[in-house]
Amino acid sequence: MTLAPTALRTITVALTENPYPVVIGTGALADLGAQVAARGFKAGTKVLVVTNPVVHDHYGAAALTSLQAAGFAASALVIEAGEDQKTTATVGLIHDAAFARKLERGSLIVALGGGVVGDMAGFAAATWLRGIAVVQVPTTLLAMVDAAIGGKTGVNHPGGKNLIGAFHQPRLVLIDPSTLATLPEREFRAGMAEVIKYGVINDAPLFADLEAAAARDPNGGLASIEAVGPALLQRLLERSAGAKARVVAADEREGGLRAILNYGHTIGHVIEALCGYGTYLHGEAVGLGMLAAGQIAAAMGLWTGAEQARQRNLIRAAGLPLQPPELEPAAVLDCLQGDKKVRDGKVRFVLPTAIGTVVIRDDVDGETITKTMQALTTATALR
Ligand code: NAD
Ligand code: GLY
Repeated sequence: MTLAPTALRTITVALTENPYPVVIGTGALADLGAQVAARGFKAGTKVLVVTNPVVHDHYGAAALTSLQAAGFAASALVIEAGEDQKTTATVGLIHDAAFARKLERGSLIVALGGGVVGDMAGFAAATWLRGIAVVQVPTTLLAMVDAAIGGKTGVNHPGGKNLIGAFHQPRLVLIDPSTLATLPEREFRAGMAEVIKYGVINDAPLFADLEAAAARDPNGGLASIEAVGPALLQRLLERSAGAKARVVAADEREGGLRAILNYGHTIGHVIEALCGYGTYLHGEAVGLGMLAAGQIAAAMGLWTGAEQARQRNLIRAAGLPLQPPELEPAAVLDCLQGDKKVRDGKVRFVLPTAIGTVVIRDDVDGETITKTMQALTTATALR
């Protein structure tokens, strides 16, 4: 689907120190150079555009042309795609390029790609010369609504995902929805899980907006860019970015509130880890994790069966999996103990109390978790 150009909309991540804009608009990529200049970078500044082969083929030239037209000394570095490349070794390659191209304190790294590129380019920027500037130009739905905003950067360790990293906020996030035209549908659907997440955790009007699309087509109304259409796409990008910006501005380093962004991620990470990374896309696992959290919340009397069904309907309309794989209960409980979010041996769950509101609880017992997983795996009535 070709999207017509739209006016640029700006959402501010209102941090006390160094607030920054999230600029959203179809055709925005052509404006990258001007937007970078508007953030105070002078003509002649060295800019290293980090991207992967697929994204480079589609959008590398547009990004470089725009930066060069604005007077920047821009060049590209293409790194391999894939979660398995999200390593310190790949970040080493970005550092090597920074050294070879003589990036200075005032230079800039631009991350052009999905969350894998964004996390690594951001981490390379956080660590080169003890920190140089980064601009995030996300090209997947998941990165547009989540990974590119908020300053979490890092790589995987053989022992677990995202164990090595740093907070390093970007100077600018530039979102051009037209780049989603080439994104595989499965990746689009995975990103939609994070959009639904924002609706459940703190944006009931966004949830209602998504429900209207799901009502038109319960089995696919949110599953592709064509089904969603340009108007809803623009709205959900703005609302999701706004929801993330609010939470990050209130709690930049996850001292408290920011943990609500992990809704669906507790069981989601277990599914990703036990099934082998890559079997489920991150967003697919998060969708299953939201179903599990919803079921636990219902079992604990925190929200109603009707609300649980509304969440399930959106996940179905997004074409996401509704049934988790069968997992050994002891392995699930063991894996939960290894989660980054464990405090004093207690697993913290983000649980919904209504559409648009969640609480953080550390008193979910093992039996409830096991029963939930069994119910989701076997109960056809729930599908
Ligand atoms: P990804 O970066 O692996 O991209 C998915 C696939 O889409 C890749 O094959 C990529 O080449 C391709 N692609 C990207 N843009 C494209 C386009 N416009 N057209 C065609 N193909 C395109 O995956 P992702 O879902 O964007 O990101 C997942 C990563 O993000 C994970 O490593 C996760 O840990 C991280 N993440 C980070 C944060 C954060 O706050 N930093 C939040 C959520 C997820
Ligand atoms: N994706 C979770 C966070 O940014 O905190």
